[in-house]
Amino acid sequence: MRPVPDWLVVEPVDDIELGVVTSGKEAQIDLVERTGHDGRSCLVARKRYLPREVHNKGELEALGFQRASTFRHDVRYREGRQFRKSRDRRAVERMTSYGKHLLQDRWTGHEYDVMSTLWDAGLSVPYPIGYSTDVLELEFIGDRDGAAPQLRSAPLGRPQLEAAFEQLVDGLIVIVSAGWSHGDLSAYNLLWWDDRLWFIDFPQAVDIAANPMGLDFLHRDVTNVCEWFDRRGLDVDGEALFAQLLGVM
Ligand SMILES: Nc1ncnc2c1ncn2[C@@H]1O[C@H](COP(=O)(O)OP(=O)(O)OP(=O)(O)O)[C@@H](O)[C@H]1O
Ligand SMILES: [Mg+2]
Repeated sequence: MRPVPDWLVVEPVDDIELGVVTSGKEAQIDLVERTGHDGRSCLVARKRYLPREVHNKGELEALGFQRASTFRHDVRYREGRQFRKSRDRRAVERMTSYGKHLLQDRWTGHEYDVMSTLWDAGLSVPYPIGYSTDVLELEFIGDRDGAAPQLRSAPLGRPQLEAAFEQLVDGLIVIVSAGWSHGDLSAYNLLWWDDRLWFIDFPQAVDIAANPMGLDFLHRDVTNVCEWFDRRGLDVDGEALFAQLLGVM
């Protein structure tokens, strides 16, 4: 287990919201400055999932969300992952009210658990600080002037593009060795900061062995992100990388 990072304020006395980082269809990320007893402070990314039952823009705004749209779930991601009891799995697949209740409770917990496991395994992932029902707190990647850019919009020269790809491969090896597939890997869910690639956005991560579609998700992740590098002019082979990853499982 890696030790808790020393920049982290573990006993906060004050949280100040500095602003909204992004506001999307599934979650809003707020930047929070957290101060401790000794006056030390750190930056926290607070990811708030849009509530599932509320689809109305006015209601969401009343809850403090800037923008609203319908929250969509893809139950395929959850199959074989968390709901090992067939009764629970059926409820989720059919989206009964009991099924929705199960999802609500486990959504942030799942992202937190996967990120914690991968952080411990040494992945370049924001340190997962904690979670509650619909809020996940993470290390903020960036500084007071702004968040790290997503890979898709990071200004990368050729050497940095090559470095980013190397870090992608190293990161994928860590993720797959730990038995996971990200499930939504793209140049949107990778950040670039100080010459370092960061993996984010894990709520749909699947256990490769337990999920019948685990390898399909992994294949899609790898080919998607390799196509992005390919379009940027790097000679990369997604199928070869996929095969390499099968070898570390
Ligand atoms: N720890 C972080 N530090 C800095 N920026 C972050 C962090 N986490 C997320 N972001 C920013 O917020 C964006 C959305 O976060 P994330 O990908 O986790 O949520 P999402 O489910 O894709 O949200 P949506 O679908 O609503 O866009 C990221 O693409 C990134 O720009
Ligand atoms: Mg995302």
